[in-house]
Amino acid sequence: MPTPPELEDLSVLACRMAQEAGCIQRDRYETKLDIRSKSAAIDLVTEVDKMCEALIVETISRERPGDAVLAEEGGGRDFEGAEWRWVVDPLDGTTNYAHGFPRFCVSIGVEHRDERVVGAVYDPLLDELFHAVRGGGAWLGERRLAVSEESALDRALVATGFAYDVRKTRRDNLENFARMIKATRAVRRDGSAALDLCYVAAGRFDAYWEFKLHAWDVAAGALIVEEAGGRISNLAGGALPRSGAELVSSNGRLHDEVLSLLRP
Ligand code: IPD
Ligand code: CA
Ligand code: CA
Repeated sequence: MPTPPELEDLSVLACRMAQEAGCIQRDRYETKLDIRSKSAAIDLVTEVDKMCEALIVETISRERPGDAVLAEEGGGRDFEGAEWRWVVDPLDGTTNYAHGFPRFCVSIGVEHRDERVVGAVYDPLLDELFHAVRGGGAWLGERRLAVSEESALDRALVATGFAYDVRKTRRDNLENFARMIKATRAVRRDGSAALDLCYVAAGRFDAYWEFKLHAWDVAAGALIVEEAGGRISNLAGGALPRSGAELVSSNGRLHDEVLSLLRP
């Protein structure tokens, strides 16, 4: 297991890179962007996603040349048997960003031999830096975070999201959405999985679920929720897959009830 000072150094680097990439996002926010689509017409990528990824991957290559990097826009590099792996979503909330809707962030996680150990998520417009190191608590800047204490689902504010194949698949999460709208105080679809997780950690949301996420959406946020005292699982209540394919997160108290209402 890595030592606390080792993890602290990685956290400092992750936070610095998240803030540097966030500066790019802030500078280019609501400016004219080159916008293209990827897996589906609604799955967008902008030049800012790529600029942020290049900055982060180049910094890791320079400062941590032996580490593997998984980055959403494909700029990463895998090393057979690497001890450390950085998992990077250079801009989480691209649809929001492309429309000038102010909810997006940079998400950077670090895994040590498959275990999530460091997470940093930066919202550049609110200047909010969420971060955690395994065993060291979750933080918003210098404020320690704790999940909410809500135990009644009908008083809960929860969040979800929909994958980019929503137009084509019947596994579209819409029935869950309808069921949760009736069962909770309200459901939000904010468009940034990493921030949704951090908001569970901060007690702003009482639960958040989504299917078909990717490792880069959850690598940082899942650790931040756990370190804030929350619970993270798959739909069956077991371990969250590293791929992020099925994610249910909550303050813990509401977890089983949320699980009982959700279907694949
Ligand atoms: C997306 C956002 C969104 C979620 C999608 C993700 P991107 O990430 O996190 O909230 O619903 O499933 O793919 O494409 O903006 O990095
Ligand atoms: Ca994402
Ligand atoms: Ca992204």
